[in-house]
Amino acid sequence: MINCYDFPTEYRLQLARKLVEITPPNLDKAFLLTTGAETTEAAVKLSRLYTGKYEIVAFYGAFHGRTYGALSIGGKKSGAGTRGFGPFLPGIILAPFPYCYRCPFDRTYPACKTYCFDFIVDWVLPCESENRIAAFITETYQGGAGSIIPPREWMKKLEKLAGEKEALLIIDEVQASFGRTGRLFGFEHYGITPNLLCLGKGITSSVPLSALIGEARIMDILTPGSLSSTHGGNPFCSRVALENINIIMEENLVENARQGGGVFR
Ligand SMILES: Cc1ncc(COP(=O)(O)O)c(C=O)c1O
Repeated sequence: MINCYDFPTEYRLQLARKLVEITPPNLDKAFLLTTGAETTEAAVKLSRLYTGKYEIVAFYGAFHGRTYGALSIGGKKSGAGTRGFGPFLPGIILAPFPYCYRCPFDRTYPACKTYCFDFIVDWVLPCESENRIAAFITETYQGGAGSIIPPREWMKKLEKLAGEKEALLIIDEVQASFGRTGRLFGFEHYGITPNLLCLGKGITSSVPLSALIGEARIMDILTPGSLSSTHGGNPFCSRVALENINIIMEENLVENARQGGGVFR
């Protein structure tokens, strides 16, 4: 028996501590799961529970996993999308993502002054929202949609809007984290701070483990058993994650990715 979710093991605790240590100070609790989709689903559930509201604003082109909740906040029909699987969760509002290379508004950044963001505030939310927004969820760059990188300014505006709406900002870094963008976490490029952070993939370099990192005020609303996963935080995968994170740090792999990224660009 390598795991019993109800009983923490030394490695699970060490990993939770490590994750809290390497993420911003406001993120002070870690919950270990198995897949990326589990973390985005958990983040949506937790935002609804914490805020008492139900709307989740997600973005065109977004990919957050293949389970029903995760598909519901996905913004793609084709490919790894939603076509044929509906209907999905109610209360999801999809908004345009900044796609500067093929701007759907036919504008050019920065002259556009992030018009696509104003469109969300002036059109999408007034037409779609009941003012019951629990969370905004986005990737730091959209992976599945073609590696689309939003302007820093857009991300800052999103963070501010989430605050104004008393909604949580969920950043899904299942793909972008652990050095892939040349920073340990993709959100570091934007000077933003998520309330909930979804991690996966590179956290172990492919042994199945994922994590939801969040603020204690939010995470503490969970009661025992309300979020759980049979294999989540098992000692084997937790130990692999710990070693993996140590290797990334000790071998300076984030800086290596940053330099390699420059060459590719
Ligand atoms: C941004 C993002 N979120 C969530 C997921 C889902 O992760 P998993 O396949 O581990 O459920 C992925 C996987 O590709 C992803 O890229």
